[in-house]
Amino acid sequence: MSAPATRTAPSAEACAAADARASFDALRPRLDALVARYPARGAALLPVLWEVQTARGFVTPQSVREIAAYLEIPAAQVEGVVTFYTMFRDRPVGREVVMVCKTLSCRLRGAQDVLDALERKFGIHLGETTKDGRYTIEAAECLGLCDMAPCMLVVDGERFGDLDPEKAVRILEERA
Ligand code: FES
Repeated sequence: MSAPATRTAPSAEACAAADARASFDALRPRLDALVARYPARGAALLPVLWEVQTARGFVTPQSVREIAAYLEIPAAQVEGVVTFYTMFRDRPVGREVVMVCKTLSCRLRGAQDVLDALERKFGIHLGETTKDGRYTIEAAECLGLCDMAPCMLVVDGERFGDLDPEKAVRILEERA
């Protein structure tokens, strides 16, 4: 089921639900405390994004606008950071985000086979989330385990190396 990464935009309902989880005004006291640590408001962009994402689940379009206004920086700058760093998400993800390293060492040692096996196992493509909301499969840049290539990271969990397709599937089955 090898497929290119897909980045389908979140639905309006998903965005509204995320925004409803925490109003920006409710977040403001914590954000103010973060901003106070920096010499310029815009310098607090990364921690502010993290705080908003943690509260809402992902960085919605409304979050981008609100953060830009709050930090007095262009919305394009906020969007650029969200799309650059894999730690930030512009769409809902599963409770477990499985990131397979696709950088050279892992690619040469079978990362694509691992990815294909996970896509088949869960019936989704790269960048998608299972219907039960449990798993999202993503590609990652080097996870710092090149001597154990190919590798994957289960976000909020562990890093696993020396993978082959069967081992990768087994690891996730055993976590279930
Ligand atoms: S290249 Fe995959 S962990 Fe470094």
